[in-house]
Amino acid sequence: MNYEQILSIAISTAHEAGAVIRRAFPRTALSHVGFKGEVNPVTETDTASEAIIVSRLREFFPDHRILAEESGGDDYRRSGPPIWVIDPLDGTNNFAHGFPLLCVSIAMVEDGRPVVGVVHDPLHGETFAATAGGGAFLDGQPMHVSPVETLDRAFLATGFPYDRRTAADNNVARLDRLVRHSLGVRRGGAAALDLAYVAAGRFDGFWEIRLAPWDVAAGILLVREAGGRATDFDGEPDCLSGEQIVASNGHIHEQILQHIRQGGAQ
Ligand code: IPD
Ligand code: CA
Ligand code: CA
Repeated sequence: MNYEQILSIAISTAHEAGAVIRRAFPRTALSHVGFKGEVNPVTETDTASEAIIVSRLREFFPDHRILAEESGGDDYRRSGPPIWVIDPLDGTNNFAHGFPLLCVSIAMVEDGRPVVGVVHDPLHGETFAATAGGGAFLDGQPMHVSPVETLDRAFLATGFPYDRRTAADNNVARLDRLVRHSLGVRRGGAAALDLAYVAAGRFDGFWEIRLAPWDVAAGILLVREAGGRATDFDGEPDCLSGEQIVASNGHIHEQILQHIRQGGAQ
């Protein structure tokens, strides 16, 4: 099977999972929300969405490996067959509050590199998809990053990690710096969708810390295939861990990195 054929299975799988989320939205009462940590919510819908994705992918790709947020799995850094990296519901906090910004993120990673990726937003009916070397598409139409060239005209996105109440570095110092030097900074609450929006040219750049591979795997591919750049804070392309990520249209990448270097945690 080539990447395009694999992508079409990933897309229909994301649509199936998205339908489950759409049916549950916005009726999931906060009282039905569990917590994995102090501020890290999980709902029955996260689990239901993941079960569909995992079973569908196992059916089509019985030899592949899986790393999924709620049920875990293999280490994407270990060599072996392709590994599917899955966030069944990115934006659970939004979901649990009826705030309509969330997505399903599915990527296939080969040799530590995302090669097939889909981010599907079931509430707005948008599907962002890409294959390595095959370009990036929004609902089947080619998509490209924005042409904005300077940070002072850039519309950015970020987020704050789940250990933000206690960690010495909770990303607020970087926000303080970048909010002063850009046109605006949004905290949408769904990192995979933030990355998809960079790829679609809606955001010019995005940075975050302590994300997980399932938050970024598909989005990294979308951004790169749409003509942008995704790196860690040193500008290195290996950012699949999600530990540090900057994604942008490319033009403003060094400017963001420079501010991050000068304005990290104090
Ligand atoms: C979260 C969202 C959020 C980011 C968090 C993620 P979840 O994912 O992507 O934007 O700031 O760090 O964990 O828990 O809703 O899948
Ligand atoms: Ca997530
Ligand atoms: Ca999730």
